[in-house]
Amino acid sequence: MLSDTLPKAASKTGDPVAVQIDGVGKSFAGTVALKPIWLKIARGEFLTLLGPSGCGKTTLLNLIAGFLEADAGELFIHRDLVTRVPPHLREIGIVFQNYALFPHMSVAQNVAYGLRTRRVSKVEIAERVREALALVKLEDFADRRPRQLSGGQQQRVALARALVIRPRVLLLDEPFSALDRNLRGAMQVELREIQSSLGLTTVFVTHDQSEALSMSDRIAVMSRAQIQQIGTPDEIYDRPQSRFVSTFVGDANLFSATLISSSGKDVRLKLGEVGLDLTTYQSDLPAPGPVTLFVRPEHCRLTEAGSPGAVPATVALAVYQGSYTELYLDCPFADTGRAMLRVPASTVMAPGTAVGIALPQQGPAIFPKE
Ligand SMILES: Nc1ncnc2c1ncn2[C@@H]1O[C@H](COP(=O)(O)OP(=O)(O)O)[C@@H](O)[C@H]1O
Ligand SMILES: [Mg+2]
Repeated sequence: MLSDTLPKAASKTGDPVAVQIDGVGKSFAGTVALKPIWLKIARGEFLTLLGPSGCGKTTLLNLIAGFLEADAGELFIHRDLVTRVPPHLREIGIVFQNYALFPHMSVAQNVAYGLRTRRVSKVEIAERVREALALVKLEDFADRRPRQLSGGQQQRVALARALVIRPRVLLLDEPFSALDRNLRGAMQVELREIQSSLGLTTVFVTHDQSEALSMSDRIAVMSRAQIQQIGTPDEIYDRPQSRFVSTFVGDANLFSATLISSSGKDVRLKLGEVGLDLTTYQSDLPAPGPVTLFVRPEHCRLTEAGSPGAVPATVALAVYQGSYTELYLDCPFADTGRAMLRVPASTVMAPGTAVGIALPQQGPAIFPKE
């Protein structure tokens, strides 16, 4: 099974599995929030659940945390069967989008909370709270109240509160989505540094594909209550296995084409009068007939109109982006009517100019026509 393999990040000694999910799923009054899934998360791995709103990310996180009871299946954390173990006994740390700090407690008291309920001694609590606040660079804020902190600082407190119990797994549900872009970038780097220095198994939920690409050891792309594809960021970006994944992660040019024939990974296609011989990365190809051809913009090249093998197009709009220009092209074969290429920022192209799009011989993919 696709999702039942472990990445190379798995530790070489001892049990490499941190979390094992065997057929766990969840429905609410007839709505399937999560179809049964099978998934192993390696110790020390940073796994991201990426998908649009409503696809089941929070449901999966809540099942791991124990806030929701699974309809069926079993869940293991390290080697322990925890399917029917309540959340506070699962040894997990959780950070939500809305900080969920106790407003009447100081920063230090907020962070200490999980230790007090675990009856840790006062001396040890003080030491571990100091340690956790140092990890998130808030040593000097121990006596403040949450309302005296910025959003980013509050989220660091929430992170310290999750880390202080030394969880076996850290779960984060869109933790940075309320922060502005610059702060979000800084928090991403910081979380990744803390996570890898502690070797902490982490499940991170986001709907932001660039956040997923930049932070993860592996990404599970979800839609419609299931995992559509799981792999390293470059596997997901370079070798999407479906139209959904190709467009949800990164920019995609999709063309309507006819698959004439295939042999192994080699295909012969037609886009109107233009014939193309390409090699895909796929082991499963659709049957001959109408298909969707997928190519990343950076693999397309602008060429002269009428060049052999080039897809005909007309310049519609040039959007200057500083280090490059995005050239939007009207193209009768493009799925949305438009294709996009990135060209040097200095390129000047008048709207209406007829051009050609040269496609790479290696690296595109072919999806069934939807
Ligand atoms: N407590 C609940 N009661 C009824 N439906 C729910 C409940 N929680 C989630 N759902 C539904 O399950 C689906 C998945 O939700 P969720 O896991 O929150 O998605 P995501 O976190 O990816 O946005 C949605 O259709 C949502 O409306
Ligand atoms: Mg959610």
